[in-house]
Amino acid sequence: MEINNDSRKDECPLGEQDGMLYAEYLQLDKILNAQRMLSEVNNATVHDEHLFIITHQAYELWFKQVIYELDSVRMIFNKHKGLDESETLEVLKRLSRIVLILKLLADQVMILETMTPLDFMEFREYLCPASGFQSVQFRLIENKLGMKQENRVRFNQNYLCVFGRDEKGLEAIAKSEVEPSLAHLVEQWLERTPGLEPEGFNFWGKYKYNVKTMLETYYKSAMATDCESERAFKLADYEKRKALFDSVLEPNIHAAYVQRGERRFTHKALQGAIMITFYRDEPRFSQPHQLLTLLMDIDSLVTKWRYNHVLMVQRMIGSQHLGTGGSSGYQYLRSTLSDRYKVFLDLFNLSTFLLPRSYIPPLSDAMKSELNIHWGTPSNETISSNRTCSSDN
Ligand code: HEM
Repeated sequence: MEINNDSRKDECPLGEQDGMLYAEYLQLDKILNAQRMLSEVNNATVHDEHLFIITHQAYELWFKQVIYELDSVRMIFNKHKGLDESETLEVLKRLSRIVLILKLLADQVMILETMTPLDFMEFREYLCPASGFQSVQFRLIENKLGMKQENRVRFNQNYLCVFGRDEKGLEAIAKSEVEPSLAHLVEQWLERTPGLEPEGFNFWGKYKYNVKTMLETYYKSAMATDCESERAFKLADYEKRKALFDSVLEPNIHAAYVQRGERRFTHKALQGAIMITFYRDEPRFSQPHQLLTLLMDIDSLVTKWRYNHVLMVQRMIGSQHLGTGGSSGYQYLRSTLSDRYKVFLDLFNLSTFLLPRSYIPPLSDAMKSELNIHWGTPSNETISSNRTCSSDN
């Protein structure tokens, strides 16, 4: 049959053009040929091993993107030794992207759960001793976010030994341990929150005063209660609240919490975070407040991933078998769900130190003006034309 070249070109206009096409641009020859099923190599093909490999590879690709975004955000924070306000929106955009990727990663666990433990058992022995435990990128994400060695459970504090001869991986991890993490950069940024200066608005001085007034009111109300049991209950509640507020008002008590790993931020940074939370409706604090919320979202989603992963592990290998990476398996993974693994723990616990609106120190005019974004006053012409419009209506 004779082929009409002109009509073929119409059907596929780009087919014969010079330059890169889709597969070449994406190097699909590498990616799509990187699924080596060990069960197949051993002449005992197990259908679900394909899903197992693809799932892990998809995770690693998304980990790469998360690291790329994290590095860029850390760079923006570090560029001016703080966050330039003109770049806050870009930081918010990138952090939101990380949040969405992590949501996807937490949900992706369900796809692998369509594999049954029996299916998994059929090929598990082939992959031993490989394990997600040896994922360099996962450790990089933890470290770049701000996970500290001393907060890992003891078994995981020696995590470098699992990477064997992976020189490049070891180097990247060593670097991530000493570079400023996102948590550290955010801490430094919070320490410079406008309004904390004692000689200026002196937020902390005002906060302290109002906390004391509030606690006194609680105490008086408790003492004025006639019913003995109710009074005892209210007094116990008062004592508890007082101890909690003392822990944040007294720098040495706060330092002891930090020492025990129960708090992370410096005292000054914590003050900044409380201040931003109180005055988040002021224009210059609304983006910082969004930023703090996104950091908590990131922590929540990493914890959700850990939880979904642990449940899957229990479903696949039970709670007594060791992991292929040599840990106690389910038991080890369950221990990583604790607060020790939350990088932005202080932001979660911030609500403990919030005050009812009536006790929030009012902003001075100067502070209100500093936190505002001035658009300039409308010209007389605009005002009068607006008036004309409204009277016309
Ligand atoms: C059948 C599915 C899976 C099973 C049974 C499983 C099992 C385990 C076990 C037992 C551990 C503890 C370390 C060890 O001794 O091996 C572990 C760690 C880990 N796995 Fe999985 N895993 C599965 C799927 C995945 C997937 C899809 C990923 C995605 C990347 C993943 C990533 C990780 C990571 C990052 C760790 C280290 C966690 C930490 O130390 O906090 N795993 N896995």
